[in-house]
Amino acid sequence: MPARVDGPIGLFDSGVGGLTVARAIADRLPGEQLLYFGDTAHLPYGDKSPEAIRGYSLAIAHHLVSLGAKAVVVACNSASSVAYEALVEALDVPVFNVIDPVVDEVARLGLERVGIWGTKATVKSGVFPSKLAKANAKIHVSAWATPLLVPVIEENILSGPILDAVINGYALPTEAENVDALLLACTHYPIVAKQIGQRLGEHVALLSTPQIVAEHVALELAKHGLLHTESLQRAAHQFVVSDFTPAFQAIAQQFFGEVIELREDHLWA
Ligand code: DGL
Repeated sequence: MPARVDGPIGLFDSGVGGLTVARAIADRLPGEQLLYFGDTAHLPYGDKSPEAIRGYSLAIAHHLVSLGAKAVVVACNSASSVAYEALVEALDVPVFNVIDPVVDEVARLGLERVGIWGTKATVKSGVFPSKLAKANAKIHVSAWATPLLVPVIEENILSGPILDAVINGYALPTEAENVDALLLACTHYPIVAKQIGQRLGEHVALLSTPQIVAEHVALELAKHGLLHTESLQRAAHQFVVSDFTPAFQAIAQQFFGEVIELREDHLWA
């Protein structure tokens, strides 16, 4: 089935993290309808094996395409690390990951001492260091698995002593490395970028990864002739989860500033 220009842009993540990317795409492309899938039944992805993450990703992406998605954004670094190639092979709509545009931006900025915070799955995959080294042979990359940020954010704990303790624990080894930039290589983390930035100080640049991805998606959809024209009215965004959680509803509403309708689709019933 050929991708339809008036179809939604599909996105998925294990939970609310991909909403950072969805929000950036909604800001960059206000005429586009979004179809977001949060795989809350399998959260967190970062602890799962590459095979499990690939299996979930393929099922969700096929589901998004069956619902009319004209493109799929893998709004999750863990899935982008281990499932992107399989998704490109399996789908006949454009597929975007959240890693390549960020790697290109790091190379463009000429950053040389780069730190990475990501899930265990992302760090273990080694995808970021290997792509960054290909983009800039002089780069020095240090990567840390910082998985506790995910459940804290999913709990909607976005300030206060619990969040501060987790950030502080992860900041200590990061500071010792003297990085000049930190990549928030998990789509959940930009939700608390301000708190991370305050802890690490101004000498460590935090890249706005959701905006970098949104810009890339906009350019690529235009190249594929898949952008809605300004005059078209878009349908309401759709939010789907594999297991309903009140926290997802609350965070999605904070992100989109409107009452969202959340639906549960059981892909693994
Ligand atoms: N937001 C996801 C990522 O970018 C997944 C976090 C998780 O579920 O562990 O890696």
